[in-house]
Amino acid sequence: MRILAISGSIRNESSNSALLKAIRNLLPANIEWIDFKVNELPYFDPQIQFGLEVPPSVQSFRHLAYESDYIVISTPEYAHGIPGILKNALEWLICEETLKKRVIVFVSSPSGGDYVKEYLLETLRTMDMVVTEEMTFVIRSARKDVSKLGDISDHSLKTSIIEFLKSVGLISNNY
Ligand SMILES: Cc1cc2nc3c(=O)[nH]c(=O)nc-3n(C[C@H](O)[C@H](O)[C@H](O)COP(=O)(O)O)c2cc1C
Repeated sequence: MRILAISGSIRNESSNSALLKAIRNLLPANIEWIDFKVNELPYFDPQIQFGLEVPPSVQSFRHLAYESDYIVISTPEYAHGIPGILKNALEWLICEETLKKRVIVFVSSPSGGDYVKEYLLETLRTMDMVVTEEMTFVIRSARKDVSKLGDISDHSLKTSIIEFLKSVGLISNNY
């Protein structure tokens, strides 16, 4: 199984990037996990969206997305919305052939992130991605409970994440 992981925060100490590390640590070692840094992408420009002018970083991002079985996004909420840098990356995934990939969404924002969750799911559905409420996990305490190396200090949080990963089929029920 191949997973493309995207953090909606490019902050060095990002709790969303830490959460992605924690998730990767919980998955079987044979899963291919690819971290994509969205700040490698240029600003979305519909004039070079298709054809020969598509920038190489975008071609590579699209290729990774096409080749993946799942996309896993972890994002904060910014000003009650989707961080611009994440929305920018998603806009580049609007291409001739729709992706229809399964997307697992983690929202790590101190106040719950209700807005970003709603807007992100709506955007992904509009892009024909496969995503539901049940494929979404919200966490308020990642800054406190998840270390930069991806260790989850809170036992009940770790258990909830494991149960969630089982429910979406990323880890087996025997875990
Ligand atoms: C510009 C800005 C706007 C923010 N707006 C919100 C918000 O609307 N709702 C919220 O829950 N948190 C908001 N936050 C707090 C972030 O969700 C919080 O800092 C989060 O930990 C950032 O994710 P990161 O740790 O992965 O960088 C905002 C933070 C910044 C920098």
